[in-house]
Amino acid sequence: MAALILFGGGGDLAMRMLLPSLYFLDHDGLLPAGLKIIGAARSEETAEQYVAKVREAVQPRAEADGAWDEASWARLAARLDYLAVDATDPESLKPLKARCGDGEVTSFLAVSPSLFGRIVTAMKAAGLAEKNCRIVLEKPVGRDLKSFLEIDDAVAHAFDERQVFRIDHYLGKETVQNLIALRFGNAIFEPLWNNLTVDHVQITVGETVGVGDRWPYYDEYGALRDMLQNHMLQLLCLVAMEPPSDLDPDSVRNEKVKVLRSLRPITPEEADRVTVRGQYVAGVVEGESARSYDEERGQPSDTETFVAIRADIDNWRWAGVPFFMRTGKRLPEKRTEIVIQFKPVPHSIFGHGERGDIYDNRLVIELQPEEDISLSVMNKKPGLDQRMQLQPIQMSLSWGQDGKDAAPPRRRIAYERLLLDALHGDSTLFVRRDEAEQAWKWVDEVADGWNCRDCRPLDYAAGTWGPEAADLLLSRTGRKWNTQ
Ligand code: BG6
Repeated sequence: MAALILFGGGGDLAMRMLLPSLYFLDHDGLLPAGLKIIGAARSEETAEQYVAKVREAVQPRAEADGAWDEASWARLAARLDYLAVDATDPESLKPLKARCGDGEVTSFLAVSPSLFGRIVTAMKAAGLAEKNCRIVLEKPVGRDLKSFLEIDDAVAHAFDERQVFRIDHYLGKETVQNLIALRFGNAIFEPLWNNLTVDHVQITVGETVGVGDRWPYYDEYGALRDMLQNHMLQLLCLVAMEPPSDLDPDSVRNEKVKVLRSLRPITPEEADRVTVRGQYVAGVVEGESARSYDEERGQPSDTETFVAIRADIDNWRWAGVPFFMRTGKRLPEKRTEIVIQFKPVPHSIFGHGERGDIYDNRLVIELQPEEDISLSVMNKKPGLDQRMQLQPIQMSLSWGQDGKDAAPPRRRIAYERLLLDALHGDSTLFVRRDEAEQAWKWVDEVADGWNCRDCRPLDYAAGTWGPEAADLLLSRTGRKWNTQ
C-alpha cells in the first residue's frame, strides 16, 4: 500500500489545487489502487472533520467541471485520513510514519519554504526519508541562490536527488508538454527553430489579479522571483533547448540546464537597458476599479509587480535572437503565451520593391486563457483584383481541430499531471537541483543590478500592459509585443 502525505494539508494550496486534483485523478481511475492520502497539519481536528472540509473544497470545483459524482467522492473519502502534527518534530512524525505502512511514501510539502529545512531533518529522524520515500517541494525554494542552497542542502542531507521532486506547476500544463510534442514530434519545425529563421521570441504571463492578501509573501519576492525565476525560465528552456535523445528525466533536464548556462549575464550597467521593473498604481481592470499595490500593502514598497527582460542566449542556435519576457499583476488580461516571431520574407514579389501587406509568420503557443497553438501564414485574398491581394490567416494546430466530433477533454489542473508523475517516480517534469541553481544565479544578477543602481519600480496603471518602458524595450529594436 502506498501513501501520499500532504504537509499543510488544510492550507490554501492543498484545498484549492491538490485535493481537487486528487479527486479528478480518482474520478478518472488514475490513482494507484490502495493509495492512502493523509493530511498532516498543525490544527487539531479529526479525520471526519478533515474529510468534510475537503468535500467543501472539492465539490464546487468538480461540479463546475461537470465531473462530480458521489461514487468518485466516496472512493476518495475512503482514502483520506488526517493527523495533527508538528512537522518539525520527529516525535510528532512517528505516528504519521506508522500510519503510512510499508509501501512507497510520497510527501508533499505544501507549507512555507522557511520550514522546509527543519521539516526534512525531522522526516529523516522519523524514518520518512527511507529509500521507499519521495519528497515533493512546492516553489519558491529560497529567495536567492544562497537561501536556495541552504534549504536544498538540508534536503540533500535527508534525501537522494532521485527522491526529490521540485514542482514548477507550469510544467504540468498541457500546452507546455504539447510544445515538446510540436518541436520534436514533427520534422517541419526543427529546421526553422534557430537564428536563421526566427527573429525573436516573446513570453508573456499576464494576470488580472492583484496581490491582495498575499502581500506578506509577495512583498519579499516580487515578480522576478515569484514568476520569472521559475515559470518563465522553464518556458524559455523548453523553447530553446536542443533535442534531447529521449524523454528520460535526465536527458531533458540536461538540455534545459545547458540553456540556463548559456543565458548571457545581465550586468548592473546593462540592467537599465534590458530590464524593466514596474509596480501597479490605481486603475481599472476588466471594468472594475483596482487599488494600487501600496494601498493593498498599507505602506509604500519597492517590490515590483511587473517585470520585463530581454534575455540573450549565447549559443550557436540562438545567437542574435532576443527572448523578451514579461509578467505582471493587474494587467488587462489573464494571458500566457509564447510567440515565435519568424523573420520577414527576404524579398516581396507582390509589391513594388516593398513587402506590401505581408505580415511575418508567427507561431503563437497560447497556454491561457485558451490552450491553443496557431501559426499565422499569408494567403491570397479571393477575388479578381489585378494585383494579387494577400491576407493573413491563422492556422490552429491544437488538438481540437482534427476530430470534428471530439468534445474537448476537460481542462486539467496542472497539479494532476505532476502528482501522478511524482507518485510514479517520474521526475521529467520536475526541476533538478542544478537547474534551480542556474536559474537563481541568473536572477540574482538581475536583482543585484537593480539594488546597486537603486532602481525603483516604475508606476503603471492597473489595467495596462505595464510601464511604457516595457514597450520601449521592444520598439527600440523595431519590434512590438504581440498583445498590446
Ligand atoms: C504562482 C505564483 O506560482 O503562479 C502566483 O506564485 C501566480 O503569483 C500563479 O498568480 C500563476 O499561475 P497560473 O497557473 O494561474 O498562471
